[in-house]
Order: sequence, then structure tokens, then C-alpha cells
Amino acid sequence: MASHFSSFSTHIVVLALILFSSLQLSRVSSFDYQVGEKLGWVVPPANDSKVYNDWASEKRFKIGDTIRFKYRKDSVMEVNETDYKKCNSTRPNFFSNTGNTVFTLDRSGYFYFISGASGHCDKGQRMIVKVMSLQDQNSPSSSADGRRFVMHDQVVNVVTFQVLLFAYHVLASHI
Ligand SMILES: *[C@@H]1O[C@H](CO)[C@@H](O)[C@H](O)[C@H]1NC(C)=O
Ligand SMILES: *[C@@H]1O[C@H](CO)[C@@H](O)[C@H](O)[C@H]1NC(C)=O
Ligand SMILES: *[C@@H]1O[C@H](CO)[C@@H](O)[C@H](O)[C@H]1NC(C)=O
Repeated sequence: MASHFSSFSTHIVVLALILFSSLQLSRVSSFDYQVGEKLGWVVPPANDSKVYNDWASEKRFKIGDTIRFKYRKDSVMEVNETDYKKCNSTRPNFFSNTGNTVFTLDRSGYFYFISGASGHCDKGQRMIVKVMSLQDQNSPSSSADGRRFVMHDQVVNVVTFQVLLFAYHVLASHI
């Protein structure tokens, strides 16, 4: 039954809900990646020693994304480029051996990860992660893949906004 209770404050509440859900939607654009996916963080198979760099180079990491390392009886270190190349685990910037390590990519540029377990890095258990700068993310000169991703995001946002606006009109006309 249609109510005559139509007040300014009800409209404000509905609008606030819509704004809130739009904000929640735009937050979804930060990702948690599982390193190596099903393989986890292990010594790579002998015929696939570049598995982690192959995996990482396909991704477009952004500031604020997290990468998760899953492993047993092993560890994760973030080191500088020199120590990455030499598999030198004597002075990591970051170390974890919890078995489930979440690392936040808090800046753009390169991060270098190695296993801290003896001999593992030399067998290929290491990875370079490149995090895009804000310019890389928005710039029209970024790769075709990136352009598609950004466009797709914008299209989704416009569609979402229109759906929400429509919902608002429907709701408002029933209040
Ligand atoms: C590595 O060898 C395994 C087992 O023979 C095979 O299943 C897999 O496809 C190979 N991977 C690559 C990258 O060659
Ligand atoms: C890595 O750190 C060591 C020790 O601080 C330094 O000698 C080396 O130049 C650094 N390498 C890079 C690429 O910054
Ligand atoms: C690792 O770095 C330390 C500190 O600079 C150095 O003493 C050591 O020789 C290095 N080890 C290797 C294998 O490069």
C-alpha cells in the first residue's frame, strides 16, 4: 500500500545508501594476488624455472594491491636488486616465514623477492614484481592491455551509476 510518508530525510537516506554502495564498488579495484596461484611459493619445477617471473610479468600490479605467498618450511624475503641477482639472503628489507605471507605493494617501481631457504633462490624461487605508477595506470601510452582494463573499469562505473540512479528513481517514486 502506497504510503504518504514522503519526507526529505527519507530521500537523503536512500541517496546516502547509494553513495555508500558506489564507494564500496570502487574500492574493489585493489587486488590480492596469490603468488604462483595453485603452485604456491616453492622451488619451481626444473623445466619451468622462470615460473614466478612469467606469472608476475602477466599482471598489472597497482599501488595498494597485495601479494600472498603460501608455502611450507620456507620463507619470503624482499631484497634489493643486487641481492636478488646474487641470491644473497644476508640483509633482507623484509622477512617472513609464517607460511602465509601477505605483502602490500605500497609504492610504484620494482620489488625483488627471494626464498630465504638455502639453495632455493638459486633454483629459481625468486620473483621481480613491477608496480605501475599512477601515470602508467592512466597514461594513454600504456600497453593496449592496460587501456582495455582502464576503459572496462570506466564502463562498469558508468553502468553501475546508471543502474543506481534508476533504482533511486524507482525507490523515490514509491516513498
Ligand atoms: C614440465 O614437465 C611436466 C612433467 O613432465 C609437464 O607436465 C609440464 O607441462 C612441463 N612444463 C613446462 C613449462 O614445460
Ligand atoms: C643493495 O644494498 C647494498 C648494501 O646496502 C648496496 O651495496 C647495493 O649497492 C644495493 N644495490 C642496489 C641495486 O641498490
Ligand atoms: C652477501 O652480502 C654480504 C653483505 O654484503 C656479503 O658479505 C656476502 O659476501 C654476500 N654473499 C654473496 C654470496 O654474495
